[in-house]
Amino acid sequence: MGNKAFSYFLPRLCVILFVILCVGLLACNTPEGDPDTWDTARPLHDIYRNNFLVGNIVRDTNCFNHATRSGILRRHYNTVTAENHMKPDFIAPSSRPANDTWVYRFSSADTIVNAALNAGMKVVGHTLVWHSQTPAWLTRQNNGSPLDKDTALANLEKYVTEVVTHFKGRLIEWDVANEIFRDGLSGTDTIDWRNALRMNDSGWNTAIGPEYVELAFYYARLADPEVKLIYNDYSLNNEFKARAVYNMVKDINARYPNVMGRPLIDGIGMQSHHRIFTIPRSVEDSIVLFSSLGVEIAITELDITAAGRLLDQSNPPPWNETAAQRQAEQYAAMFKIFLKYQSHINRVTFWGLDDGTHWRTLDGSGAHGTLLDRNFNLKPAFFAVMNPYGF
Ligand code: XIL
Repeated sequence: MGNKAFSYFLPRLCVILFVILCVGLLACNTPEGDPDTWDTARPLHDIYRNNFLVGNIVRDTNCFNHATRSGILRRHYNTVTAENHMKPDFIAPSSRPANDTWVYRFSSADTIVNAALNAGMKVVGHTLVWHSQTPAWLTRQNNGSPLDKDTALANLEKYVTEVVTHFKGRLIEWDVANEIFRDGLSGTDTIDWRNALRMNDSGWNTAIGPEYVELAFYYARLADPEVKLIYNDYSLNNEFKARAVYNMVKDINARYPNVMGRPLIDGIGMQSHHRIFTIPRSVEDSIVLFSSLGVEIAITELDITAAGRLLDQSNPPPWNETAAQRQAEQYAAMFKIFLKYQSHINRVTFWGLDDGTHWRTLDGSGAHGTLLDRNFNLKPAFFAVMNPYGF
């Protein structure tokens, strides 16, 4: 009888113990028991594969050779923007060319673009006309005064045409014009978008006048009719700046409704350098406004400053658990909005792989704006982006 009970219970006991062991092991595999690392977490681009592209930036030309950064980039992102290497100060001849043959410096950009394409990623061009990171000779004389209009126009046409042609067939979109509007706009400034443009600090506007904007788009379209042409700017959750952009895109597309098959401006890039205080509703309002134009919206440079002097110059808040949690909630709030308007949003690109190489770390702001800390550990923000509704 004793033996019979033993042989009856022992196998059952073993099964029960085995089940308990399995449940225990599974529980250990949840984020709480054994936190995901960048190389085990489900790829972000896969999570959003039915919603939008998910991108990040390449800071160094050798990024694809750096085991960890290249691993993070390839695993989680399907789209790449060069953080600096496709800007005019990296590509245009560094001094005024002596003749009509301009010697461009494409090699760093080509290294990045080709490495990204070889890794099966899509690539965004950033940027063609900008008041910053642009050699002065394109728009100014040696003494700093503006070039005469015809010379500046010739430079604009030549630069945009030759650069877009060089990358033709390799990019999905170009940020054609970047940050053309000034800060601190009022409602009346935006009625005619031309009155909202940067003035003296924009070489192109000073030498050519407001028509430089549509001409840049026009030359880009002629050089590569396939690539999407984007207008890109920051603080687009500011209602006045949003209104200036809206009026500009509406006006230019009304006057150029069919340039090689479609309106001239394909989309609006919302840089999205946010803070933990940014009011998500202000972002949503601008997305609704831009959607009404029927153009695509791209989130082009997303980061969320969570600590440091950018939040408060005199009393910079520290980076701690509370800040990390607040930042994660803000990322979740933004992604809920992006998902709500996913039919208008084709891409969400983050501006930084990790806090250690984030531009706001390198400029000493202590912002901690990205999803990974400087040791490449996943921050709460990463989990918020993985699952914004469950966060
Ligand atoms: C920043 C880069 O991240 C820095 O490395 C560089 O020193 C300055 O430019 N808006 C833009 C980006 O369109 O090109 C800027 O990138 C950030 C703000």
